[in-house]
Amino acid sequence: MKKYIFTDDCLIGNSTIDNEHRHLFEVLNTANEAACSGKINSAALARDLLEQLADYAGTHFAHEEAYMESIDDPELEIQKKEHSAFIRLVKDVMEEGITDDNAEEKLEELLSFTAEWLYHHIIGSDTLIGTVVRNKDLGEDEIFKFSGDYLTGIDAMDAQHQTIFEMIGDIHASAEDMKKGMDNYEKIVSSMGKLKDYIEVHFSYVEDYMSMNGIEGLKNQKKVHRSFLERLSRIDLAEVTDERAEYLVQLTEYLVEWITQYIKRLDVKAAE
Ligand SMILES: [Fe+2]
Ligand SMILES: [Fe+2]
Repeated sequence: MKKYIFTDDCLIGNSTIDNEHRHLFEVLNTANEAACSGKINSAALARDLLEQLADYAGTHFAHEEAYMESIDDPELEIQKKEHSAFIRLVKDVMEEGITDDNAEEKLEELLSFTAEWLYHHIIGSDTLIGTVVRNKDLGEDEIFKFSGDYLTGIDAMDAQHQTIFEMIGDIHASAEDMKKGMDNYEKIVSSMGKLKDYIEVHFSYVEDYMSMNGIEGLKNQKKVHRSFLERLSRIDLAEVTDERAEYLVQLTEYLVEWITQYIKRLDVKAAE
């Protein structure tokens, strides 16, 4: 039987939020176990799962958003959008209705979709909650500097990480200049494209390295990579019309923070 595992890379370091995430995984596991046992009617199970998701996820999102608001987290708007899209989806399935004929299929879909969504959302967005507080301690420029703490000991990997830091740092500097009135927009769009390509190449390198050396956690690492690349491809600069420069400054902060967390959580471990 499939089990939805809450892995360490999902921990964000805020115990309330971490426990709520863990509970959401449990909700999925309980429903899945019940479905596999075959003792409970699938329609009843599907309806119950939908209600639990709407209810518990709703409360959890509210907690997260309130916390983010309290620390003035710049990611709040993005999070709100993602949360409401998930709730809307759950409500849509509720409205479509669960019948005895479609229950089994709907239940399966709901379980796999939610598990996937949750994982992607936690890795791509929730792990960054609170980083703004840490960034304030470190100072604006420090966060863009590649530090010795990030070394994995694998030269090629370290060089690639350093390049990623430099690329993000350059985009950040261009965005800061844009805030002062320089017309850097086209240049930034092109640099963002290059950055995305480079990160993709880097991820493949890491995956190959892990598989060649039989390093544990490859499946997980691939999932993290996929989540981040998806998140990157959802960034549509053309959509941003207001305060572009400010948006770009924040975007680079998000990117560098994500990469930092990623290196610390996964790559350093992968190289051990
Ligand atoms: Fe969350
Ligand atoms: Fe969230």
